[in-house]
Amino acid sequence: MVSYAGKLVLAPMVRAGELPTRLLALKYGADLVWSPEIIDKKLIKCERQVNDKLGCVDYVKADASSPVFRTCPSLERGKIIFQIGTATPSLALEAALKVVQDVDGIDINAGCPKHFSVHSGMGAALLKTPDTLCAILTALVDKVGKPYQKPISVKIRLLETKETTLQLVKRLCETGISHLTVHCRTTPMRNRERPIRDYIKQIYEICQDHDVTLIMNGGIQSKSHFEELLRDLELPREIGGMMADCAEQNPTAFHDVPLDWYDVARKYVTIAHAYDNHVGNTKYMLSRIVPGKSKFYQYFARCKTTQEIEHVLKLLGPDGNPLGDPLLFIQGCREQEKLAK
Ligand code: FNR
Repeated sequence: MVSYAGKLVLAPMVRAGELPTRLLALKYGADLVWSPEIIDKKLIKCERQVNDKLGCVDYVKADASSPVFRTCPSLERGKIIFQIGTATPSLALEAALKVVQDVDGIDINAGCPKHFSVHSGMGAALLKTPDTLCAILTALVDKVGKPYQKPISVKIRLLETKETTLQLVKRLCETGISHLTVHCRTTPMRNRERPIRDYIKQIYEICQDHDVTLIMNGGIQSKSHFEELLRDLELPREIGGMMADCAEQNPTAFHDVPLDWYDVARKYVTIAHAYDNHVGNTKYMLSRIVPGKSKFYQYFARCKTTQEIEHVLKLLGPDGNPLGDPLLFIQGCREQEKLAK
């Protein structure tokens, strides 16, 4: 069974946490990677397909232009945790059973503050319905965790007070989960706000009493920053760290020496191309990786295919400034397109 103790991991991130980001993070030192949250009903409707051409396993929905979930077993096996968005034990169970053979752990999202999640009782809404959350976790522990020997975990936010948070943590630990991730902000807090880490040690102690490992999330900027936090807060090394925002901007942030944005962009696009990533998703990730003030930012937005993006990247000099004229190349592509019509 995969252990989360002391690991530095890639957070679950809708849009940003697709296969190319996860593979780049793993290559540059992430110990584990989370899938983006996938809603139980959506996964249940998918068909599992072995993709021999790419060496991947795809979960495909009939009306979708790209797989709902794609994993590459040769590179992700032993390291991929699948996150489910749910508000119903039976649906969570059905979704988990569908995917369990291809992943190394099942995580429940109990922290998403977005309207889409909370209005249907999912994400952070589960923090207000702990009976439902515990029923989901108990069902998963009994019917997925134990028979398949895969860890069940949950990702929560802090409640309004230390006391209520510690009470909740205790209840969650009693369900038999193996791991807990705490996003050290309350539901109304935004990502730019400073995380509250004042009582993470007490959360850790409750987890320890129940043999549950703990991952701390919120505001971690890099591997060295995480190590600094453990030292400053006098926390044991068994506590893991999870990075979202900074790993979205730079998936190599897990490495001792993260790469510069132009090297990250090149490596990211090479992987995205190799694994046939949806071009819209590749462009989204580049919009996060490439600084807005860089000249290159305006170029890739005009590309229509991953091959075009790859070519434009070849016109990028070693320091991130263009060597050739990417705009001329892009204009040429559009003219060829018109002629072909
Ligand atoms: C997120 N977050 C998130 N959380 C979650 O449990 N499931 C998800 O699918 C997502 N999706 C997501 C997408 C994007 C683009 C971002 C930036 C964030 C929240 C994330 O996992 C994390 O808890 C917070 O971002 C706080 O960590 P950082 O950003 O301070 O490291």
